[in-house]
Amino acid sequence: MSDLRPTPDDKFTFGLWTVGWQARDPFGDATRPPIDPVETVHRLADMGAYGVTFHDDDLIPFGSEDTARDEHIKRFRAALDETGLVVPMVTTNLFTHPIFKDGGFTSNDRAIRRYALRKVMRNIDLAAELGASTYVFWGGREGAETDAAKDVRAALDRYREGIDLLADYVVDRGYGLRFALEPKPNEPRGDILLPTVGHALAFIAQLEHREMVGVNPEVGHEQMAGLNFVHGISQALWAGKLFHIDLNGQHGPKFDQDLVFGHGDLLSAFFLVDLLENGGPGGGPAYDGPRHFDYKPMRTEDLDGVWASAAENMRTYLLLKQRAAAYRADPEVQQALITSKVPELSVPTLSDGETYSDLLADTSAYESLDVEAVAARGYAFGRLDQLAVEHVMGAR
Ligand code: GCO
Ligand code: MN
Ligand code: MN
Repeated sequence: MSDLRPTPDDKFTFGLWTVGWQARDPFGDATRPPIDPVETVHRLADMGAYGVTFHDDDLIPFGSEDTARDEHIKRFRAALDETGLVVPMVTTNLFTHPIFKDGGFTSNDRAIRRYALRKVMRNIDLAAELGASTYVFWGGREGAETDAAKDVRAALDRYREGIDLLADYVVDRGYGLRFALEPKPNEPRGDILLPTVGHALAFIAQLEHREMVGVNPEVGHEQMAGLNFVHGISQALWAGKLFHIDLNGQHGPKFDQDLVFGHGDLLSAFFLVDLLENGGPGGGPAYDGPRHFDYKPMRTEDLDGVWASAAENMRTYLLLKQRAAAYRADPEVQQALITSKVPELSVPTLSDGETYSDLLADTSAYESLDVEAVAARGYAFGRLDQLAVEHVMGAR
């Protein structure tokens, strides 16, 4: 089916660190060789992807001399120019080198906080140079294993200080970049600061340049905390803060699995795609940014399996997009939604111009309402759920 072949219009993007993961884990060595970022660019372009993203250290090994750094960037740029792949998002590695073992922006060690800011500023320059529009902050090491070790209120002060300073830098340089904070509850730290979408949104409200800071939620990260990802994304959209998204798969609360998109809670993935693609007020896309896959090919895969899994992310997304379109177009679904009063929730509870005095005066709202009869009405939500399951299974 031709519409299952990804094209750049689908806006699929991948991190260099995803396909490039050598599958080293806490218990075992790498099972795969490194992949040259230039090869990744070509492979992704051949598969119909739109863009590629990276941490500074994915492209330029930590500690590289300036001339080596320039050479890495030059080769990468040439591959981008050759293939037409774009770099919509860039991020910083503030977690691998031992210097960041207690975090970057919130390390107890002030010298390390200053170093972290410099590392980010340098990479922000590169992001702007490559035309990125989003800069992601995933604070994987910003956290603690024991409550004795971290003054969390001070850590949040320092986190805010860091983001405020970097936002000033971007504004002063005239870079067209927005920031996206990526929540995660734990791993690698025992507890990470800004653990969920909700925490991140509350933090953003305290920032000086809050208008240029949003979130980059990841499927697995919310699900690791037992949370509903579709609800998290909905609230981010509601707040106007869904600046970027990390798609992958996860089987409930356990370590960060980073499976292929949909290879976890499939029904949640279906409703997510439906929300992103069909969830706008007029039925259009609710989100038009990159569909960014932040997954890891399983450790048991060889290099062929790596590229196959990259393609599977895109194919699964496009299949779910087709299924979601069929679900929306199904007259029985449309009728079931009305039966369940789903559209009625969009009708404001008070009429235009009505005040609480009018509500107090309306006896039909309270005094004469047949409470028992209204309470007895079923919503038939189960029917809706079954229709979704049947569409996902291709039974309708
Ligand atoms: C993880 C995170 C990272 C970030 C990446 C970009 O759990 O490892 O999802 O992959 O997305 O560092 O900031
Ligand atoms: Mn992850
Ligand atoms: Mn991520």
